[in-house]
Amino acid sequence: MELTYYGHSTFLLKLSTATLLFDPFISPNPAAKDINILDLKPDYIMITHGHEDHVADAEAIAKSCGAKIVSNFEIVSWYGQKGIQGHPMNFGGQWKFKFGMVRSVVAVHSSVMPDGAYGGNPGGFVIEADGNSCYFAGDTALTLDMKLIKDWYPNLDFAVLPIGDNFTMGYEDAAVAAEFIGCDKIVGCHFDTFDVIKIDHEKAKGAFRLRGKELILPTMGESLTF
Ligand code: NI
Ligand code: MN
Repeated sequence: MELTYYGHSTFLLKLSTATLLFDPFISPNPAAKDINILDLKPDYIMITHGHEDHVADAEAIAKSCGAKIVSNFEIVSWYGQKGIQGHPMNFGGQWKFKFGMVRSVVAVHSSVMPDGAYGGNPGGFVIEADGNSCYFAGDTALTLDMKLIKDWYPNLDFAVLPIGDNFTMGYEDAAVAAEFIGCDKIVGCHFDTFDVIKIDHEKAKGAFRLRGKELILPTMGESLTF
């Protein structure tokens, strides 16, 4: 699995048979000004919830390359009205896509579409493909539900967790989340984009180190292989 960071909570996950783009927020992000959204060409766009900082470029990308939206029923229906194809899921559900398995998991947050339409419940995804597994938490607080993920997936290769505080859990809670899910390699997201989520990188890494976990803070456009 190759994971590339495009700022905030936007990641491109390259699998052997498909490319998945998570929560595209590129064109409104000054830190991502050198990224051309039309270069990404994903097969699927995975949307955790309806907030603007997770969906900003989804419509333009889906319309340019025919990518399908994978999200909750309400969000997939909202994009369906714009003529965009999708696959709706909801908590507890798994679906076998051609590229692998996806499970829809709980996030503790809120969700509304940029136009004020109801955005369903916010969620996260666990992906199993090519003999690997990974967890994208979406925007969430620390929650005991995360302990279930360790039971279902005892060998997660990596997890993407929000660490910026204020709107989501901060890095200290995220380090606890890493223990709950039993994952040693955590990729941080939802930090530094806005003033209220700016973090001290060394302190954040230290909070994970204390628990025997590694926090990776990717730079814009950086690719990680798991
Ligand atoms: Ni949000
Ligand atoms: Mn957010």
